[in-house]
Amino acid sequence: MPAIAYLECSRCHARLSADTPQTLCTQCPEGPAGALYVRYDLSPLIGSAAKDVVGERPGTPWSGMWRYRAVLPDAAPVSLGEGWTPMLRSKRHPGLWLKEEGANPTGSFKARGLALAVTMARHYGLRKLAVPSAGNAAGALAAYAAAAGIEAHIFMPRDVPLANYVEAHAYGAHVTLVDGVISDCARIVGERKQAEGWFDISTLKEPFRVEGKKTMGYELVEQLGWEYPDAVFYPTGGGVGLIGMWKAFDELEQLGWVKPGKRPRMFAIQSSGCAPVVEAFDQGAVASQMWRNPETAASGLRVPKAYGDYIILDILKASGGMAVAVSDQDIFASLRDWAASEGVFLSPEGAAATAAYTQLRDAGELKASDRVVLFNTGSGLKYTDVIASALGLQPP
Ligand SMILES: Cc1ncc(COP(=O)(O)O)c(C=O)c1O
Ligand SMILES: [Zn+2]
Repeated sequence: MPAIAYLECSRCHARLSADTPQTLCTQCPEGPAGALYVRYDLSPLIGSAAKDVVGERPGTPWSGMWRYRAVLPDAAPVSLGEGWTPMLRSKRHPGLWLKEEGANPTGSFKARGLALAVTMARHYGLRKLAVPSAGNAAGALAAYAAAAGIEAHIFMPRDVPLANYVEAHAYGAHVTLVDGVISDCARIVGERKQAEGWFDISTLKEPFRVEGKKTMGYELVEQLGWEYPDAVFYPTGGGVGLIGMWKAFDELEQLGWVKPGKRPRMFAIQSSGCAPVVEAFDQGAVASQMWRNPETAASGLRVPKAYGDYIILDILKASGGMAVAVSDQDIFASLRDWAASEGVFLSPEGAAATAAYTQLRDAGELKASDRVVLFNTGSGLKYTDVIASALGLQPP
C-alpha cells in the first residue's frame, strides 16, 4: 500500500498534506472550496508485473476491493467484505453487463466509500463522524463505524426507505430524521459539527469516499479483461462513483494496466423528478442550479445539488457521454422487467440505469453491439416498502 504523496484540489490544484485529516481545499482563491483528490507516487507500480500482483494473497483483509491495496492508502482496513461484486451478463442483450453492487455489505455501493472513509478516520484517530444521507450512506457509515468502534451521527430525510432507518438504529448510530431533503440534512451537520466535535464525511467533503468508490473503475476494467467498455451508466446523486471511476481510469492509464483505447462514454442517470445535472448538461452549464421540490421514489437520486457538479459535468463532456433523465414510471416498469426477465431485483436507482439504457437504445444513441456496463447501485431488498407501494402491493 503506497504512502499518500499529497491531496490535490480539484479546482485550484493546490497541494495539501494528508498527515492530518483534511476536508475541502483551504487554498481556493474564490468560489466554493474544491474537493480533494488523493495522489500517490505510482511510478513503482507501472507495468504489467505490478498489475499481475492484484488478486494475489486472497483472504481477509485483502479480499474484495482491497485487492487494489496497491493503489489505496497505507492504513489497516476496516472491512466487512466490500467490493469485487458480480459483473452479470444480460440474458437478453449481448453487449450489456450489470455490475451488481447490491451484493456489498449493507446492500449498496456506499459500502466501498465508507469502508475507506472509516478506515482513514480510525487511522487519524477521529472519534465522531457525521453524515447527511439519502439513506444508504447512513446504513453503510453506521455499519463501518460500529466495526471500528467510532460514533456515527446520521441525519436523513424522514421519508427514507424503512430499511435505512432500521439498519442505522441497529448498528447503534445516533439517528436524526429531518423534515426535508439531503441538502437540509447537510446544512444541519454544517451548523452543528464544530460545537459537537464531529468530523463531516459528507459526499466529497473529505477525500476518501471517492478513493473507495474508485475501486469500481478498477474492478469493471479487470472484470472485462483489463479493457474498457464503450459506455458506463451511473445513477447519479452526488456523483461520487462517477468521479471515482474517472480517477481510476486516469490511474490505470498512468500505470499502463489498461489496454490503450478509448475511454468509456460516461452517462449520468437521474430521475426526471430531480435532474439538476441533466438540466445543467443540456444547457452546457459548468455547474448545476439547486433543483426545487425534488420528487422521486429513487431516494438516492433525490439530491437537489451535487457538491461536485462541476466535476461530474466535466467528465460527461470529456468522455463524450451525457446526462439522462427517466421518469419514475419508467424506473418501476424497468425494475419489474429486470426482476421477471433477468432474475435481478434492482434498486429504483439501478432501475433508472436500466430504463435509461432502453431509452437510449430506442433513440439510436447506442447500438446492440456496444459494450455497456450499468450500475445497480443497491439491492431492491432495501426498498421493499417503496417498491411495494409503487407496484400497488399490500403488505401481507
Ligand atoms: C442506491 C443508490 N444509488 C445511487 C446513489 C447516488 O450516489 P452518488 O451520490 O454517489 O451519486 C445513491 C445515494 O444515496 C444510492 O443510495
Ligand atoms: Zn483549491
